[in-house]
Amino acid sequence: MTSPIRVAVTGAAGQICYSLLPRIAAGEMFGKDQPVILQLLEIPVEKVITAMSGVAMELDDCAFPLLAGIEMSDDPMAAFKGADWCLLVGSKPRGPGMERADLLKDNGRIFIGQGDAIDAVAADGCKVAVVGNPCNTNVMIAANRCARIPDENFTAMTRLDQNRAATQLAKKAGVPVTDVEDIIIYGNHSPTMYPDFFNAKIGGRPVTDVITDQAWLEGEFIPSVGKRGAAIIAARGLSSAASAANALIDHVRALITPGDTVHSIACKSDGTYGFSEGIWASVPVRTTGNGTYEVIGDMPQNGFAQEKLGLTNDELVGERDTVAELLQ
Ligand code: NAD
Ligand code: LMR
Repeated sequence: MTSPIRVAVTGAAGQICYSLLPRIAAGEMFGKDQPVILQLLEIPVEKVITAMSGVAMELDDCAFPLLAGIEMSDDPMAAFKGADWCLLVGSKPRGPGMERADLLKDNGRIFIGQGDAIDAVAADGCKVAVVGNPCNTNVMIAANRCARIPDENFTAMTRLDQNRAATQLAKKAGVPVTDVEDIIIYGNHSPTMYPDFFNAKIGGRPVTDVITDQAWLEGEFIPSVGKRGAAIIAARGLSSAASAANALIDHVRALITPGDTVHSIACKSDGTYGFSEGIWASVPVRTTGNGTYEVIGDMPQNGFAQEKLGLTNDELVGERDTVAELLQ
């Protein structure tokens, strides 16, 4: 019998986790032969802790064969103890009319305490994936607190944007989504993100050969991907949850599954594609197994793309400036 891995998940009583936790427990994230112990974290508010215990009761009631244990806590030092993976979902979502960056001051602080706890008690080699918004900057705050866990173990999720972009292209071309390849998100998980249709393919052909409506690609596709989160909030009154949980499954599965497929992952910039060093920007990566990856640094970028990359980089640098006091 394979030993269980420890998976810490924050925001366990929230919307995303309600979709996410059963899928992890069913083996969709770490594989159908990998038992998991879920270590759930919530805020110390009685109503919320009670809600988390209700989620745990439901997980029990699913009788998942791979669920080797559920631990619940309001203390990051307990929740991250020995964790092999830390999935940082817990934080405030935005409401209608807000940008994700409006959450910076409120949510940024969460990642100081959680970063400290991860550094103190998580397993050696622990991997950290941040979902809570604004995720590119929150992951930077958490990583900055950790001397023991290397920066490359910290990623933020732009997979939802990649999945959104793939579906938009497939619908426009009238093909199954599986025909779309190599559609990569660059930069920030915000409306400035750049979904690079120039290097993507549909049915093995360049997207621009299949979708010849360049005005749609530049003027409708790019903004519709960037503003999809806001469109969901406007329609649902709540931010995306099932699709966010699904994207986190894809993000982690990609990281533990080595191969040639190209994925969008926000990781620490070393200057590739002109991103400023030290910010977390989404770039194309190939994964090399057990949570490791290498950045693909040689995708050709034309003048249009370079302008977009510059804009999203500027925004990320601005977010870093805004939270400078949290990075001391
Ligand atoms: P939610 O409000 O339904 O749930 C968030 C939960 O986090 C709440 O139960 C809350 O009590 C908990 N929480 C808050 N602070 C915490 C802390 N310090 N420690 C532990 N738990 C804490 O929100 P949601 O819909 O689940 O969204 C969670 C976050 O994910 C939001 O910031 C949202 O904007 C973000 N998000 C990101 C993406 C992405 O693509 N990166 C997609 C969707 C949502
Ligand atoms: C999303 O992209 O759906 C999430 O980041 C939630 C949001 O605020 O848009």
